[in-house]
Amino acid sequence: MTPYLQKLQPYPFEKLAALKQGIVPPAGKAHIALSIGEPAHATPHLIQEALLTHLHGLANYPTTKGLPELRQTIAAWLTRRFGLAEGLLDPETQILPVSGTREALFSFAQCLIDRSADPVVAMPNPFYQIYEGAALLAGAEPYFLNTVEANAYLPDVDAVPGSVWRRCQLLYICTPGNPSGAVMARESLEQLLELAEKYDFVIASDECYSELYDDENNPPSGLLEAAFAIGNTEFKRCVVFHSLSKRSNAPGLRSGFVAGDAAILQDYFKYRTYHGAAMPLPTQHASIMAWRDEKHVIENRRLYREKFAAVIDILGEVATLTRPPAGFYLWLQTPIDDTQFAQQLFARENVTVLPGSYLSRDFGGFNPGRNHVRIALVAPLEECIEAALRLKNFLNTL
Ligand SMILES: Cc1ncc(COP(=O)(O)O)c(C=O)c1O
Repeated sequence: MTPYLQKLQPYPFEKLAALKQGIVPPAGKAHIALSIGEPAHATPHLIQEALLTHLHGLANYPTTKGLPELRQTIAAWLTRRFGLAEGLLDPETQILPVSGTREALFSFAQCLIDRSADPVVAMPNPFYQIYEGAALLAGAEPYFLNTVEANAYLPDVDAVPGSVWRRCQLLYICTPGNPSGAVMARESLEQLLELAEKYDFVIASDECYSELYDDENNPPSGLLEAAFAIGNTEFKRCVVFHSLSKRSNAPGLRSGFVAGDAAILQDYFKYRTYHGAAMPLPTQHASIMAWRDEKHVIENRRLYREKFAAVIDILGEVATLTRPPAGFYLWLQTPIDDTQFAQQLFARENVTVLPGSYLSRDFGGFNPGRNHVRIALVAPLEECIEAALRLKNFLNTL
């Protein structure tokens, strides 16, 4: 076995299961899980129907590159969504389907990192756990950019020393962020692109929450948009990761894509032919239907808006909370240690939330996830309201 395996931490949900072990919550209160970021709104019919219609496609091996129609649909979606010049993105060389962004975020680092060059992979802290696992298994040293309230939960790139940037081969960013929902402004993305150019590293921009935003008139910017704005029309050093899991309530479909720098994607394509995670044909057809339709995404945003409003209305009386600009998480500060908070909340109210410190690492002398919990508003509205009432009850006792 590779010795790097020893460096992996148990996944946060394993730590959470251990934290809850042996606790018997009140029988009279049904369990409400707000811990996992698994969308629970109905998967749109158009996706299900397309999947069923194309089930006969199982008799064929899919290609790594995917159907031209899928890549063209994705190029058209990116062009519309991020205001790119018509025809700028080449579906032949700048887009690849992936079987959910999780595998892609992981495999991308395995393909990109040159472990002979003392590599660093930089990432936000707290973070989606795959970034760290990918960095470690690729033989790189993770470097964390703490995201704290004083910086509106955004990475402070100015605080990173030049010596780190010089070793950096890959920077993961997550915008909108998991867990905070914070969105990086286009200007910040432009600044990152300048750094990437100066120090010669690649930016992997995880934008899988980009469609779950609050303000219909102000969708989050993206890395391709920023590159285009500064005249980097070949998207050099940029690779964006998008997913249907959150946008279209289809986490079981395992469908996403990567897009950006053609030279990088050419090598990543080669890697993926061996990696072997080609998207099944029925999934590709269902994905085409999903990326073509915005109606269900608008409705999805409405449902989250409704839940955020209802929950903040209740919790706002006992906690300082604002609706994040995007995503489906509340990143709540806790008056006691976050693990104790989650444990006691489960014991008394049968509500599960995720301790923030499970999503982050000690870095720079502290753990930026500590004394926060992540609350995923994925359950139906009534359940979210019930959970908020119980949380309020609990907070009142602290
Ligand atoms: C920040 C972030 N990126 C990527 C993913 C992976 O999503 P998927 O593999 O379903 O596309 C998730 C899932 O929870 C996530 O929270």
